[in-house]
Amino acid sequence: MRELSFVKIITRLENAEVLDSVVTRAQAVVKKVVQPQGLRDLLHGVPFGHPLHPVEVQVPIGAWLSAGILDALPMHGSGKAAQALIGVGVLSAAPAAVSGWTDWSELHEQQMRVGLVHAAGNAAAVLLYSASFVQRVRGRQASGKVLAYLGLAAVSGAGFLGGHLAYRQAAGANHAEDVPHVFPPGWQEVGDLDDLADGALERRIVAEQPLLFFRRGDEVNVLSDVCSHLSAPLHEGELDPGSPAPGSLGTGPLGEAPGSDPCVTCPWHGSVFSLTSGEVVHGPATSPQPRFETRVEHGRLSVLLPGAG
Ligand code: FES
Repeated sequence: MRELSFVKIITRLENAEVLDSVVTRAQAVVKKVVQPQGLRDLLHGVPFGHPLHPVEVQVPIGAWLSAGILDALPMHGSGKAAQALIGVGVLSAAPAAVSGWTDWSELHEQQMRVGLVHAAGNAAAVLLYSASFVQRVRGRQASGKVLAYLGLAAVSGAGFLGGHLAYRQAAGANHAEDVPHVFPPGWQEVGDLDDLADGALERRIVAEQPLLFFRRGDEVNVLSDVCSHLSAPLHEGELDPGSPAPGSLGTGPLGEAPGSDPCVTCPWHGSVFSLTSGEVVHGPATSPQPRFETRVEHGRLSVLLPGAG
């Protein structure tokens, strides 16, 4: 079975450079408005381990679809119920839009072009449903239904674009998910420990996979070098070497700041990952980096990825 022709039109949208001036301005506004970092992390879905936006959109879409069914099968009291559902949909669209715009502001340009049209479709749906709600309050049920069905068409088209964005363009997906499937099981030799730079980020290819190394003396932290957000090479990112825990050097006075993990900041969109655990410290990434165990025998370093193969 072949792809429908309108899918080709959507694919062409990815390269519609005509949208770029709007994209640039909208991105600047979103980054300025959605502050501070803790709020951005929450909106990206960092505490939940995956994006928040797909969960939030369930409420308006579910409410509006249910209203459409009630409008098609009128029963006693269904008009009021449909009106209430449309109101719930309009109100719940606001937080879904905020998380969506926040995710959108940290994407590749092809994804942002599609995302912009996706957002425009959803904005049209909110306007149509708002007008439908007003008409219903005024007792104009017929025009209220027509406006609601136009809104349903708009949100459905926008939803199709959202699916394209998520599944075809992999926005919001974990881009390091494949690592345990392609990396071989068991210990894999890297080379001489002393060949690794001390106190710096270094990239090595092991079993055909790019890995990120951070060595401090005999201790080595190893993560996948492919950022889980959108595949950036993490070794090109910024290193925060962290600080030792109080008293760990035997000199820490009471009340000094707690120690911190060494971290790497992604060079593309600024996600921060702990180099010791691979966990996300700050988004937009929501999935951790695959973390490798290490061992040194006779000066030779090996790595093992738990669950690989
Ligand atoms: S690729 Fe986007 S934060 Fe790393």
